[in-house]
Amino acid sequence: MYSPESIQKLVKSKLRGYKFFIVSNREPYIHMHTPEGIKCKTPTGGLTAALDPLMQACKGTWIAGGSGDADRENVDEHDKTLVPPDDPKYVLRRVWMSKDEVDKYYFGFSNQVLWPLCHNVFHKPTFDKSFWDGYKHSNKLFARAVLDEVKGEKAFVWFHDYHLALTPRMVRSKAKGQIVSAHFWHIPWPSWDVFMTCPWAKEILEGLLANDLIGFHLKRYCINFMASVERALGASVDYKSFAIQYGGRTILVRPFPISIDFDAIEKSAKKPIIKRKIKEIRSPHYIPYEFIGVGVDRLDYTKGIIERFHAIDRFLEKYPKYQNNFVYIEAGAPSRRKVPAYMKLGEDITKLVEGINWKYQRGYWKPIIYIEGKLEYNKLLALYRTADVCIVSPLQDGMNLVAKEFVAANVDRNGVLILSQFAGATEELKDAVVVNPYDVEGFADAIKNALEMRGEEKRKRMERLRGVVRENNVYKWLGDFVSEAAKLI
Ligand code: F6P
Repeated sequence: MYSPESIQKLVKSKLRGYKFFIVSNREPYIHMHTPEGIKCKTPTGGLTAALDPLMQACKGTWIAGGSGDADRENVDEHDKTLVPPDDPKYVLRRVWMSKDEVDKYYFGFSNQVLWPLCHNVFHKPTFDKSFWDGYKHSNKLFARAVLDEVKGEKAFVWFHDYHLALTPRMVRSKAKGQIVSAHFWHIPWPSWDVFMTCPWAKEILEGLLANDLIGFHLKRYCINFMASVERALGASVDYKSFAIQYGGRTILVRPFPISIDFDAIEKSAKKPIIKRKIKEIRSPHYIPYEFIGVGVDRLDYTKGIIERFHAIDRFLEKYPKYQNNFVYIEAGAPSRRKVPAYMKLGEDITKLVEGINWKYQRGYWKPIIYIEGKLEYNKLLALYRTADVCIVSPLQDGMNLVAKEFVAANVDRNGVLILSQFAGATEELKDAVVVNPYDVEGFADAIKNALEMRGEEKRKRMERLRGVVRENNVYKWLGDFVSEAAKLI
């Protein structure tokens, strides 16, 4: 089993003599102005949470876009700052982009072209040439920062996600020293015919093929990617060894399902304060009803929040004994607010929740408590521990770490996980109750079945789920990725 210490040893021994870099759009620490002065926050999202422990253990430099309004005041003359601020362990180098650059590269091409294209949830990408030009430009800014840091020496560079598909090629073409590079794509890869609707599909694929290793969460995303390069670029693909030959080089493609720090979450969920929080939640002043459901999402149309509320509506209609008896708490963290589809989603959710609550409300009881924002961590853990059901129902999701966090925090083994068949996590979490989020009737029935599942069955399922997540934790993801990358050195 991997641990932060064993991964540190692995990096030290296998990557000896190589400078170690992580490159991503999202930065792990964000400096913000607040009424109480400058505060350093961590962002929502799996990427930074998964990689921060690795960087803390292995030192190295993380190159990322500066996104906080106090970021510029907290770097040295080389745009660097040491993080975590309370206990510095590694270097964060910030890449600066203007408002217009961020609009085109992040809100534009990344989140209005690549995001809907790869998630394929009937949401048409906006193939706008100015987004594409902005994306190329910003990818160049990241490439410049990498080259500046590498300084012609030997380096292992690990790129992340769909924001930086072109950067690996830009770096490889200019690097003087020996660069080994890898890329982890944190979202799904669609079938080749969907991907090739993008007018710039070839350039994106060529950008990624400048890496030596490309990782996806699942085997089927790897296969979709290999089929895309075969069709679009005529690359030679070996589907047995998951290797691509292109431009005289070999590129390996591998599945690495991302995960969470199971032990850390379990330990936190067992703290006495969590029991006290559970009492508060279940108190007559807050939720004195028998059944509690919980959901935690980034506010994104791929997460299936609207479809979930329709299923809850149908469930209450079809099984009225749960009226005045079941409360569903949804915490939705606002995200990518400037993108029109996300703005509309926020409004649609608010309207739908109002409508459903209006329809069923009785006295103090209303079926949905919708919290727009992040929950305080201990409250979240208490909810994960006390909820009868956690519903994770994306229309499409590369992995989904909320499902795994719920399992790790459900230390009393009395909760049921309802999981969409379209979440990457479903491949591992076989003991979840699996739903098709588009099937309102089936989804409504699944909620009922989950609430009525016998205690023994719940315990057995949760025990098995916990075993899987404990074993396949984030350190395994990191260790497997780094070991595979190290073979290339
Ligand atoms: O799941 C894909 C992803 O880009 C993650 O890599 C990231 O943690 C999350 O979405 C958050 O997105 P953003 O960086 O746009 O806030």
